[in-house]
Amino acid sequence: MAKKLWGGRFEKKTDPLVESFTRSIQFDYKLAAADILGSLLHVEVLAKSGYLTAQESKKLISGLKTVLKKMKDGSALCQSREEDIHSYIQNQLYKYAGDVALKLQTARSRNDQVVFATKAYCKNELPGIMRDILSLSGSLVAVAQKYMKVIIPGFTHLQHAQPIYLKDYLLAYAAMLERDLARIEQIEKGISVTMGAGALAGTPVMSDRYNMKAREVIEGLEGLTLRNSGIELKPTQNSLDSVSDRDFVIEIVSALSILAMHLSRLAEDLIIWSTKEFDFVEIDEAFCTGSSLMPQKKNPDVLELVRGYAGKLYGNLVSLLVTMKGLPLSYNRDMQLDKEPLFESIEIVSAELKVLTGLVKTLKFNEEKISEHLKDEGLYATDLVYYLVDKKVPFKDAHTVIGKLVKYSLERGIRIKEMPESTLKKFSAKLVKKEVCRLFDPRVSVDSKRSVKR
Ligand code: ARG
Repeated sequence: MAKKLWGGRFEKKTDPLVESFTRSIQFDYKLAAADILGSLLHVEVLAKSGYLTAQESKKLISGLKTVLKKMKDGSALCQSREEDIHSYIQNQLYKYAGDVALKLQTARSRNDQVVFATKAYCKNELPGIMRDILSLSGSLVAVAQKYMKVIIPGFTHLQHAQPIYLKDYLLAYAAMLERDLARIEQIEKGISVTMGAGALAGTPVMSDRYNMKAREVIEGLEGLTLRNSGIELKPTQNSLDSVSDRDFVIEIVSALSILAMHLSRLAEDLIIWSTKEFDFVEIDEAFCTGSSLMPQKKNPDVLELVRGYAGKLYGNLVSLLVTMKGLPLSYNRDMQLDKEPLFESIEIVSAELKVLTGLVKTLKFNEEKISEHLKDEGLYATDLVYYLVDKKVPFKDAHTVIGKLVKYSLERGIRIKEMPESTLKKFSAKLVKKEVCRLFDPRVSVDSKRSVKR
């Protein structure tokens, strides 16, 4: 049976049901490298404070290195009987370093340790998400450039509205991703990595001993793949807050939820646009799946899952908010439940960004079909209004005139373009057929919009 970090005051054996109920190693093994980093920093803190001799800290560092090497990425620990990753590492360290391992927990509590490890984990993972955002945004820009001149019907309420450039549509998603990136960057920067909170009340270690750059401590440490070794350790500002703060987890999952919402909207657009009814775009076969029954099917399952996963992200966010809302200060075990929503959200979003990067890059737009839709005269009704406004008709009157003209056209089944000038004049003396006809041109329409910088 795994040795506990807290056995001393207990006489009875823990009920096996309690062991399995409270266990978290099946998911917090993901914090393995981050926890080792924390322990290495803690060894340094203890050495600087006179709790460890040079010899002892050397032994601990080499023991921690061995634990790290043997553990690899930690995924084999899913089946472990240990309570959590912190207990596992401590017990392994004892195996490799002997009695000196018993000094490692000096002036340290898992309450502080788990926050350090979770923050280090986040600082390590977020740059990957940011790179994935940039890749997807790169795909959107590449497709926008490929179809630079293509015009499509723009929609509001999913009804034909006005002609727009396809590139503007694609770059709207790139603009959302730019905000997502800025948000995540900001959150990453704002995560302050501290130690010295102890269980909740602080430790006997002088606060300035906790000032240290992770890079200097872990330099040359093989296997510690924490990409973000730029972590700067600081002493806690308020020990109660340090062990009970999960704002950073909530911020990350909320930024990822917003990002997932953007991806879901993109997915929804592409699902609709790839239907027979729309036929605006073709999704590459490599990014579609088939049906076991209907041989003709080529389904956008990837996009449907992107849409569906947004729900999981929101669920994770709500679960975190609800978990935290009633907790008395400071640490409570409920907080152990922050890991799965955090890990899952990061994993889902990272997978979505990667698969969409490939899917978007291979999109083929059906220019012929799109141009058929552009024949809808309704798309140019607003331009007719502006035409009358240019002739000094008040906007509201112009709007009414063109509204009546559109209604007449729809009821009689006569295109405005085909109406004789005498008919047009019945609606407004200022309508000149030759000029009106020129307005039913997608390029004229989009290029007349000067508020958008091109
Ligand atoms: N596995 C625990 C967590 O994730 C570690 C902290 C346990 N602390 C305690 N006082 N029981 O929160």
